[in-house]
Amino acid sequence: MTRWTAADIPDQRGRTVIVTGANSGLGAEATRVLAEAGAKVIMACRNVDAARAVADAIDSAIADTAGSADTAGTAGTEVRQLDLADLASVRAFAEGLDGEVDVLINNAGVMGMPKGTTADGFERHIGTNHLGPFALTGLLINRVRDRVVTVSSGLHRLGRIRDDLNWERRRYQRWLAYAQSKLANLLFAYELQRRLSGAGRHTLSVAAHPGVAATEGQRRDTSLQGKFLAGGPAQSPEMGALSLLYAATAPGVQGGACIGPDGFLQRNGHPTLVRSSRTSRDTTLAARLWEQSEQLTGIRYTVEPL
Ligand SMILES: NC(=O)c1ccc[n+]([C@@H]2O[C@H](COP(=O)([O-])OP(=O)(O)OC[C@H]3O[C@@H](n4cnc5c(N)ncnc54)[C@H](OP(=O)(O)O)[C@@H]3O)[C@@H](O)[C@H]2O)c1
Repeated sequence: MTRWTAADIPDQRGRTVIVTGANSGLGAEATRVLAEAGAKVIMACRNVDAARAVADAIDSAIADTAGSADTAGTAGTEVRQLDLADLASVRAFAEGLDGEVDVLINNAGVMGMPKGTTADGFERHIGTNHLGPFALTGLLINRVRDRVVTVSSGLHRLGRIRDDLNWERRRYQRWLAYAQSKLANLLFAYELQRRLSGAGRHTLSVAAHPGVAATEGQRRDTSLQGKFLAGGPAQSPEMGALSLLYAATAPGVQGGACIGPDGFLQRNGHPTLVRSSRTSRDTTLAARLWEQSEQLTGIRYTVEPL
């Protein structure tokens, strides 16, 4: 599987992919590559103006090469408003979407933010990075044909999940709040696969992480702690996005897999199957988080067999 690049992506013509947080960083890169490979990409973004600027640049680059055998029949981009830190917005997005999609990429996320809350009163990292995507996936799960990709981070290894998901009874530490949310992403992705399999569905749930990639989100935090955790030079967004793209498109990917870079400490490199922490594979913890997430969001999953 090593040395896999964007050139290995199968033809995406006829496929529809939702990418959350598609206006920046890894989401913008994944959108560009998928659109160039022929997919229709629904860019689910909170800032629609920023998203439209990215969408226009991608669509015009595709139009400039139109006529070449590579880009004939590509479907381009569509921008839709989605604020994962507001469950009303998540519901409105799901209600406004027509028909089925092939892939949902839960990419959007905030990192290392000062203490704050979402519109529904959740701590900002767990609310935006886990509870919002949990609700979104639950509302769409019976309309996703091929797979759900959930983007985590190597920092999930620092995460601890107890009953205090919203940091009401612990001293707040922003990178630990981020790490908790990224551990939640993995527990969610693996539990979703168990539920899909249990319902006899062929839709896959796959986790991915980009290693360390130089994006806005990664650059925003200039604290010593942030620099220490990033741990050395970052790879390009193009390389970082490969894990997401592999998880979203490679034919051999198994449900319940985690895809990350093959380099030292999974910080950089080409996509490969990686192991996540033992805690992330704790099925009891995953079931409890699922129950809590349903209670907090009010979204109860009903996974229908196809
Ligand atoms: N870069 C890395 O080294 C690294 C490492 C490990 C994991 N990751 C993960 O990779 C994913 C993408 O991050 P990135 O590095 O590409 O960062 P980024 O450039 O900051 O992109 C994050 C995206 O998420 C969007 N977003 C944030 N809050 C949102 C909300 N409430 N509703 C909808 N969208 C929201 C942002 O929108 P705005 O532009 O409106 O803020 C932006 O489009 C994240 O899940 C992150 O945890 C990144």
